[in-house]
Amino acid sequence: MRLKIVAGNWKMNHYINEAEALITETLHSSPQVAHNHLNIFAVPFPYLTMAQNQVKHHEGFALAAQNCSSFEAGAYTGEVSAGMLASIGVSHCLVGHSERRSIFNEKSSELLHKLQLLIKHGITPIWCCGEQLNDRNQMHHFEVVSKQLNDEVFQLNEQDFSRIIIAYEPVWAIGTGLTASPAQAQEMHAFIRSKIASKYHHQVAEQTSILYGGSCNADNAAELFALADVDGGLIGGASLKAASFVKLISIMHELH
Ligand code: 13P
Repeated sequence: MRLKIVAGNWKMNHYINEAEALITETLHSSPQVAHNHLNIFAVPFPYLTMAQNQVKHHEGFALAAQNCSSFEAGAYTGEVSAGMLASIGVSHCLVGHSERRSIFNEKSSELLHKLQLLIKHGITPIWCCGEQLNDRNQMHHFEVVSKQLNDEVFQLNEQDFSRIIIAYEPVWAIGTGLTASPAQAQEMHAFIRSKIASKYHHQVAEQTSILYGGSCNADNAAELFALADVDGGLIGGASLKAASFVKLISIMHELH
């Protein structure tokens, strides 16, 4: 059975006191986590250790970094390596979020290095893909996502690919209040799953968790999380307050 996941991507938000309170409150207010469910906090680097100390006592919760270096180690001032993240117990890491791609100009070759380093260090990558509004308007969305798959995660061998989680985040839905319709989300998730089946194996496709991200909140999550090929959400804005993040966790809990 595929893992069902609710992951909160805080992006560059909150100071330490708010961060600590948000995690404490979420851990204490969430329903008991089922064995095939996982809830993830993707927090800024300075909060990883604090968050790890809280999360490690709670089954069904994990911690993600939002980025890592594409280099292994050495003279790369300001960078944080996959090995460093592993050494403090971080289990997951976002790779290729659209903000990294567009604002920081991250390219496929760099993202592939990050994926390889994370897997080498035993960290599960949460690899993000998704088309821009223009691509969608011109009906190029399948082509864009195919290219991202081919240039990045499909460069991994089957064993390594089996370690990753995918997040489909249409860029036009991120932080805009415009959510993909259930039909649009299901169609793209099923497409991604069919691509995985053709590239690797039907079983690999069946086991890969594919999350939806982009203005997902307590009002639309029940519909999205119930879709056959949507295995949860990567949540931005609605993960910044314990009440709304817990609501999303509870929606998943009630559905599956
Ligand atoms: P919003 O939920 O704020 O649209 O952000 C989605 C996202 O980018 C999660 O990674």
